[in-house]
Amino acid sequence: MSTDEELKATVRDLVQEGKGILAADESQPTIAKRFQPVGIESTEENRRAYRSLLLTAPGLGQYLSGVILFEETLGQKADDGTALPLAAQRQGIVPGIKVDKGTTALANAPGDLVTQGLDGLAERLRGYKALGARFAKWREVYPVSARNPTTLGMAVNAEVLARYAAICQEQGLVPIVEPEVLLDGDHSIERCSEVTEAVLQAVFHALQRHKVVLESMLLKPSMVVPGKDCARKAGPEEVARETLKVLRRSVPAAVPSINFLSGGQTPAQATANLNAMNAASMRAPWGLSFSYARALQQPVLDAWRGRPENVKAAQEALCLRARLNAAARKGQYRPEMEPAG
Ligand code: 13P
Repeated sequence: MSTDEELKATVRDLVQEGKGILAADESQPTIAKRFQPVGIESTEENRRAYRSLLLTAPGLGQYLSGVILFEETLGQKADDGTALPLAAQRQGIVPGIKVDKGTTALANAPGDLVTQGLDGLAERLRGYKALGARFAKWREVYPVSARNPTTLGMAVNAEVLARYAAICQEQGLVPIVEPEVLLDGDHSIERCSEVTEAVLQAVFHALQRHKVVLESMLLKPSMVVPGKDCARKAGPEEVARETLKVLRRSVPAAVPSINFLSGGQTPAQATANLNAMNAASMRAPWGLSFSYARALQQPVLDAWRGRPENVKAAQEALCLRARLNAAARKGQYRPEMEPAG
């Protein structure tokens, strides 16, 4: 298969009606932060047991087309000895890999961040591919304040995302391009809308400059929502309207799918917001789906708490959330479908 055919086949497998992506790619510090409140120590064995629980949940492949893994997970095995990427594949779920190395402060742009990891990326990708990864993910982060993100910050972050995406395509891995406008702060939905539009336009200009094939990538943006400390909250219809407005202005129709991150929304909010976008009357040119970490995993961690006797309940919690988001992908979710309590 040529690189081009390989990319097309992966996009076809990832973009399926009624399916989305699970992000299970927390770095070591992040997974420790997620484990701590439910009393789980972040040891290699606990991380393996947890990711094994996720990837072997019976029936999960009905709702998921892909899973984003962390480097360590690529080399770990399920309880029955199957390599974890293979366990995902057996459920029809394409394994992918987070390849960025986290953020650092951007010089001469106080308050802005930039993501590291481009050096040696092509070589790392070859290694991940040999372990079964067929797509990759890279996240740039944009804190919002009166001054941030700066013009310099947006230009640099866009350039880095485009370089990453071009290197992935060259190596035959589909890039998921993730520009995340953070929820932290008391900014309004209008400010989030203005920032997200500027960020996405800078990102797509850079992708085009770097000759990234838009048909062979996925976009993973944040939704347009008010800052989490903003007094005026926004319901799903408003979030859908604002988000779709910004996406229509910024994302070429050649992009096959937009898979949102959840960014600190509750599981029910993230599902309701995705549903409202798919239920909106004007047809969107791209698929609108999910690539959630916290909004899929929080109920799983709450159910598991590191205890083997809770594995079944934890897997059921995952399948329930995945099923509700798969319904939202088709605009068929209703709040009454949530479990009572
Ligand atoms: P959240 O859905 O928790 O925002 O995570 C998505 C992700 O992959 C962050 O990089």
